[in-house]
Amino acid sequence: MNLEVLNGLLRPKSIAVVGASDSEGKIGYTVVKNLLESGYEGDIYPINPKGGEIQGLKAYASVLDVPGDIDAAAMVVPAKFIPDVARECGQKGVRGLIVIASGFSEVGRDDLETEVVEIAHEFGMRVLGPNIVGILSNSDKCNASFAPFLPLEGKAALVSQSGALLIAMDASTYIRRVGFDKMISIGNMSDVNFADMVEWLDHDENTDCISLYVEGLRDGRRFMENARNAQKPIIALKSGTSAHGAAAAASHTGSLAGSGKIYDAAFDQAGVVMASNLNNLFDRTLALSLQPPMQGENLLIITNGGGVGVLATDSAERYGIPLHFAPEEVQEELKKHMPDFGSAKNPVDLTGMAGRDWYQDSVQYAFAHEWVDGLVILYCETAMTDPMDIARGIQAAVEASGVTDKPVSVSFVGGERSEEAMRWLVENGIPAYGEPDAAVNVIAALREYARNEDMAAHPFDPFTDVDEAAAREIIKKSRAASERGLTEVESKAIFEAYGMPVARTRLSETEEQAVELAEEIGYPVVMKIVSSDILHKSDAGGVKVDLNSADEVREAFTTIISNAKAYKEDADIQGVAVQHMAPWGTEVILGSVNDPTFGPTVMFGLGGIFVEILRDVTFRIAPVSPDQAFAMLSDINGAPILEGARGETPKDRNALAQLLSRYSQMVCDLADEIQETDANPVIVYEENEGAIIVDARIILKKVEQ
Ligand code: COA
Repeated sequence: MNLEVLNGLLRPKSIAVVGASDSEGKIGYTVVKNLLESGYEGDIYPINPKGGEIQGLKAYASVLDVPGDIDAAAMVVPAKFIPDVARECGQKGVRGLIVIASGFSEVGRDDLETEVVEIAHEFGMRVLGPNIVGILSNSDKCNASFAPFLPLEGKAALVSQSGALLIAMDASTYIRRVGFDKMISIGNMSDVNFADMVEWLDHDENTDCISLYVEGLRDGRRFMENARNAQKPIIALKSGTSAHGAAAAASHTGSLAGSGKIYDAAFDQAGVVMASNLNNLFDRTLALSLQPPMQGENLLIITNGGGVGVLATDSAERYGIPLHFAPEEVQEELKKHMPDFGSAKNPVDLTGMAGRDWYQDSVQYAFAHEWVDGLVILYCETAMTDPMDIARGIQAAVEASGVTDKPVSVSFVGGERSEEAMRWLVENGIPAYGEPDAAVNVIAALREYARNEDMAAHPFDPFTDVDEAAAREIIKKSRAASERGLTEVESKAIFEAYGMPVARTRLSETEEQAVELAEEIGYPVVMKIVSSDILHKSDAGGVKVDLNSADEVREAFTTIISNAKAYKEDADIQGVAVQHMAPWGTEVILGSVNDPTFGPTVMFGLGGIFVEILRDVTFRIAPVSPDQAFAMLSDINGAPILEGARGETPKDRNALAQLLSRYSQMVCDLADEIQETDANPVIVYEENEGAIIVDARIILKKVEQ
């Protein structure tokens, strides 16, 4: 990406406002007024066919008449005029178009949008929008938008797909005291998208934390790559997480792949921290822009009130950083800064007697201690203490500790004096919240950030003992033979080509052939109908298990065929599969979908009711290394079943991790062919005894006509 061109668009030294107006109430009026009021120091060129003067500035009939260079053009003329003015901008040498106007793909005018981007690219320009509010930047004193004013100054940057939300957040920065340097509206993302913004903001000297409001991504893989490479924390609030596309899914996995789950996985893997709602986006942005990540698990809470201490303890558990007691030596030292009836455990309760000194001494000692990875300081306003005094004590202690690589957050519960003290703390670099839960939640965000960074660091090393050519050959033959898609036998052969253990399955067309195969595979066997017209084999009476002799196999063959015909008279029956009957173990499901935004993904969950009713599954964007796959196994609620809970023996999680990793390679290598897959069930045995795919389906992509 050319960062220079984006600099011209997003930090312009001169701006033309195309559609500038002197009529109050028009957006073309507001944008000029905002540029003037924000103190913009670059050149402003109002463009209006009438020429003359607009708000005291000389106006030009066309950008082509402007004497100086123009970096960016804010477009506030109706959509239908934009292609023509874009071309003029190109001829003028403008570097970027800020297309505020609506009336493009959001109302079905994709053609107009494409035309504008094509014109822009012809001249080497980039396009922000269309359908946006504009751009706001404190460091450039630039409000090139129709949002009323620049946000509260700070070091975060917001990129928002929703314009209205950006305007609302802009105003609320002053209430919430969360400072932003930039707010950028990206609307329809016809050209500049989140991937570009993350890369550009990562290089922006005035941004310390990148905050995103996302409805949907374009170019998911590039976004992930740029986010993973970014040196700055990124936080995203994702809306629209309902299960899109689920109804159309052909596989089990497809129906479980609501966009929410795949987005969660992609953000995790890219090291992006999630926010759960707007409040949370503000809270977490504040902490991520002021504090370093939390590198270990040990959170210490210091409080003057038992109640808020317990509330914060509950929150810590809820957000995945449960409290542990500090080592004896830490407790002994802390006891020196509290009365006898205090508690040096965790939370450390200094009691309602605590004044500035106790806070200051205990915070300074604890923050510097190597056992402590992060600190939450709570304070309930009391009649004997001045909140500002406590705040100053906390800040002095943090500074005196010399620690800069651990996070701290604060919650003061009280009235106006507490609010004022918290404002002071934030101005001095310490995030502070009126709600203890929020103070803990943001530390969890800093922990998630560190963990995600670790996870993103696992490279995928492809398996070399796989036979991609053999897999492709099976697909090619099947496509040539018919439109019916891959059978179970063919699907399993592809899994085998990727070195995955599969219950041996062969296709028989006659009773005698079935017996021969059963003898070759070894008893007991399972037999199943193979017909692309019958997806639910058991419902059709098309499955017989635990067959131990030639006679049983013959009888099963006849019964299965007649049941299938009774179930669907004109079913196209390819035969009956004879399969080795895997011994009983724990059932799990593996699967994949080729997601429109992120490409191939893999899924893991426990089988049976866990997947059917509880939908207890987890996704990753493929490929995943065996280490990442192993971590996936702990993601689901049912993880203790595999880990060996309540007298159960631990299951072979290493074998599952290997299987998942190979699976992920298969769906990536064959991404041009495979749409969805299910391996269901996969049976996993005790530790060191492996896992085996018992049933599998691969659904191919439709061939484009
Ligand atoms: N070059 C320069 N100026 C031109 C022009 C051209 N080719 N063609 C027209 N103009 C002038 C007009 O004469 C007018 O100036 P005037 O007030 O002096 O007459 C000005 O540009 C604006 O044009 P107008 O036709 O009055 O449009 P408008 O102000 O009613 O609406 C938009 C223009 C872009 C604001 C409107 O079409 C729109 O898209 N609104 C939605 C914006 C939005 O919500 N964005 C997304 C937020 S999330």
